[in-house]
Amino acid sequence: MRLTVFGTGYLGATHAACMAELGHEVLGVDVDPGKVAKLADGVVPFYEPGLEVVLRRNLDAGRLRFTTSYPEAAAHADVHFLGVGTPQKKGEYAADLKYVHSVVDTLVPLMERPGVIIGKSTVPVGTAAELGARARTAAAVDVEVAWNPEFLREGFAVQDTLRPDRLVLGTDRDRAGSARVEELVREIYAELLAAEVPFLTTDLATAELVKVSANAFLATKISFINAVSEVCEATGADVTVLADALGHDARIGRRFLNAGLGFGGGCLPKDIRAFMARAGELGADHALAFLREVDNINMRRRTKVVDMAAKACGGTLLGANVAVLGAAFKPESDDVRDSPALNVAGMIQLHGAVVTVYDPKALENSRQVFPTLNYATSVVEACERADVVLVLTEWNEFTALLPEQLNPVVRRRTVIDGRNCLDRARWRSAGWAYVGLGTP
Ligand code: UDX
Repeated sequence: MRLTVFGTGYLGATHAACMAELGHEVLGVDVDPGKVAKLADGVVPFYEPGLEVVLRRNLDAGRLRFTTSYPEAAAHADVHFLGVGTPQKKGEYAADLKYVHSVVDTLVPLMERPGVIIGKSTVPVGTAAELGARARTAAAVDVEVAWNPEFLREGFAVQDTLRPDRLVLGTDRDRAGSARVEELVREIYAELLAAEVPFLTTDLATAELVKVSANAFLATKISFINAVSEVCEATGADVTVLADALGHDARIGRRFLNAGLGFGGGCLPKDIRAFMARAGELGADHALAFLREVDNINMRRRTKVVDMAAKACGGTLLGANVAVLGAAFKPESDDVRDSPALNVAGMIQLHGAVVTVYDPKALENSRQVFPTLNYATSVVEACERADVVLVLTEWNEFTALLPEQLNPVVRRRTVIDGRNCLDRARWRSAGWAYVGLGTP
């Protein structure tokens, strides 16, 4: 099938390449000529393992192209995926829908044949219905709007797109075109459905809510274990053993029970806030009041680590040398959006310390958002003359570190393990004071 994908960020670029991988003729569309030129050249403008291979294979096969031209996109296909960002509004909790609106408002008047817009972005409930009405007011032809939320994780984007846990499709069930849209989507994902990926069809509002509820649940699970971690810290208990024990209960499960510095990134923090804002608009804010606490627990982890660093430096960070290992919001990503690691590094600098950051993939992005921090090109360089070493993103490069390598360069052998990812016994036997979160 001929498809377009609007937006070529983490979500859109992955979706475009993976739809081509399924055999479709795909045109990726973005307003940023720089991104389009890179992608057309086979270069992924961010770090995502495995994506470049899929991108190049499909560019070479002629199934995948990129453009900035909306008229070209309108002519190319009658099925248009929407994968643009929905960031948090400045100074508010609500999601900013300006990119979503801009795509619909620009594309729809150019459509000369009946078409379908399939949203993949995470949006406040009610957006799809509103977009449908908006599109039909502006269109000369029949336009259907459906929602097919994306659940991919950065670092596993290709795998999550080509072998998702489930596919969810919301259509406007009051419209006669709803069944035809479902048929089209079944055709697009035929290969996945043949592999028995569960396919759930529903109305627009439920589809939108599935996505934000999933992210709210994941955020809650992380904040739950971090709250328990605070109690462990108060009593000398060990949250890592506790999480293992909880995880054996199949009803709970071990995944997303890693206590530490908490969640960040372009999705979980802004999604729970947008969910609260939308519930407020709907008069149901009391229902999600607990998410405010989920957010508070999460943000408290960051100040906790700053306090731990100050304590390790003898009570004040003023004039201390602090090495921060990790800047990305999680490993296997170069994404620093709402990164707990960078946030902590910034706060420590504000307390008067000299902070040197190293990350295997996220240095360039970090420099752009936080130019005042020092950046090193290796772990050893970052740790030179450090009074304390903070491990804030659990990259394999850090978990595999031999502490003896750092012994000659640091000023004081104290490590704060912000992700409970290091082998404590190993660091202690190399002469280090090891401090974990929620561990004795
Ligand atoms: C998330 C959802 O998992 C995905 O389904 C959705 O489509 C987008 O948002 P992503 O942001 O890529 O994906 O990252 P994820 O792997 O979920 O991690 C989010 C954050 O939680 C990271 O900062 C991570 O370090 C943190 N985390 C995760 C924990 O602190 N503890 C855990 O046990 C798991």
